[in-house]
Amino acid sequence: MPRLLLSLLFCFTISVSFLSCFTVGEVITCSGIVPMRSRNDKISITDFGGVGDGKTLNTKAFREAIYRIQHLRRTGGTLLYIPPGVYLTESFNLTSHMTLYLARGAVIKATQDTFNWPLIAPLPSYGRGRERPGGRYMSFIHGDGLQDVIITGLLVLFRFIDRLILFKFEVEMLKVKMNYSSKDLVGLRVSNVEEADYAGNALLVDWHQLRLFTLFNVVIRFVTILAPPDSPNTDGIDPDSSSNVCIEDSFISTGDDLIAVKSGWDKYGIAYDRPSSGITIRRITGSSPFAGIAVGSETSGGVKNVHAENINLYNMGVGIHIKTNIGRGGFIKNITVTDVYMENARKGIKIAGDVGDHPDESFDPNALPTVHGITLRSIWGEKVQQPGSIQGLKNSPFTGICLSNINLHGVPGPRSSPWTCSDVSGAAVQVSPWPCSELTSTHQTGACSDHF
Ligand SMILES: *[C@@H]1O[C@H](CO)[C@@H](O)[C@H](O)[C@H]1NC(C)=O
Ligand SMILES: *[C@@H]1O[C@H](CO)[C@@H](O)[C@H](O)[C@H]1NC(C)=O
Ligand SMILES: *[C@@H]1O[C@H](CO)[C@@H](O)[C@H](O)[C@H]1NC(C)=O
Repeated sequence: MPRLLLSLLFCFTISVSFLSCFTVGEVITCSGIVPMRSRNDKISITDFGGVGDGKTLNTKAFREAIYRIQHLRRTGGTLLYIPPGVYLTESFNLTSHMTLYLARGAVIKATQDTFNWPLIAPLPSYGRGRERPGGRYMSFIHGDGLQDVIITGLLVLFRFIDRLILFKFEVEMLKVKMNYSSKDLVGLRVSNVEEADYAGNALLVDWHQLRLFTLFNVVIRFVTILAPPDSPNTDGIDPDSSSNVCIEDSFISTGDDLIAVKSGWDKYGIAYDRPSSGITIRRITGSSPFAGIAVGSETSGGVKNVHAENINLYNMGVGIHIKTNIGRGGFIKNITVTDVYMENARKGIKIAGDVGDHPDESFDPNALPTVHGITLRSIWGEKVQQPGSIQGLKNSPFTGICLSNINLHGVPGPRSSPWTCSDVSGAAVQVSPWPCSELTSTHQTGACSDHF
């Protein structure tokens, strides 16, 4: 049984109130970085003509309600209540100091009219739409330069568009971008712990992605993100050039990486130069044909100080994937992943410097990434076809790679293959099957500290 479920069940049985479970119990959490604040000023989408019949277009209602929040500027901000129902709408922008609150049974559903879907400028660190040349599609629920935003509710469901259209239109559900030079702290909190009523609460993001672009102080908790396994470009959560991000207690099942920490690519990301750092990922359960916990491959602004723990993965492509490329430049350093259980995976661990993929042909082949200080500890896998591979770069070998207490059991028979390594140095302690001669085994204490 997934650890997340177990801990929730445990909480549930010892405590009638879900909230007290998380405040009185010993659950370690990083969610305190953005306080869950309540708002005195409350409005409902129905005050603006919103109709939740699944047919009426509510774009005007959403835009007017948010305009009202933005311009009336009530002290402590405003809560926008979405009553039960299906609210069809085109994309809309959030504003600062607001809570988007969805009642149980409320669905915000994007229109199927993607022909008129707004295009906006590409992210500066990407230089083009990630999956298409030129601009990118605006997020369904979009925010730019905001602070103090909360999305919450009971069984919240955002439904984007049919999967068929999704193949053509890669539009993240939420993309919040802030003006980096204004030193305001942004607080985005996507969660549902406001209500003590536990039964059935989950923020359910249907077929879409949370992309956090140059955000500070973000908490994402108790969300369920679902995308079909064969849907392309449906990463679950992507902290991108963002810092101080807390992602906890969530279930993610998608057609791409569950969580991928990024910071732009090639010359665009190098010029933009904004790392992702201080990312905590905890108690995540999920499944994907691609990676569970990923760093990269867009890491040109650098990725550092990432800590992931208590991760349960089922039916996976690659459990843990750290990836970059020639031309990326940047760095990946001080990444720790511990206490991972995976079952039925193509590969347990992959650290690679050759993933391919460039925004254009003008990348600088001398822009080599640096990868240093990767600690992978207490990782257990069953039915893992290949335990792992580490392919550094000849002119930029990966250093300080520490593997300890790792057991990745294969499937019996010819399908199981050994570790492969090149251009890497570091240590391995209690790793089975044994990784490769490039990693020394002299550190019997289980620590690789002399590599840092
Ligand atoms: C929403 O924000 C985007 C990008 O910041 C902007 O281009 C667009 O005009 C905004 N849309 C509305 C309806 O305000
Ligand atoms: C960002 O914010 C700063 C300070 O508030 C302001 O001077 C600057 O013009 C803003 N830049 C953009 C691109 O909005
Ligand atoms: C490494 O990252 C962790 C957070 O994951 C942080 O607490 C620690 O201070 C970092 N170490 C260094 C040397 O920056």
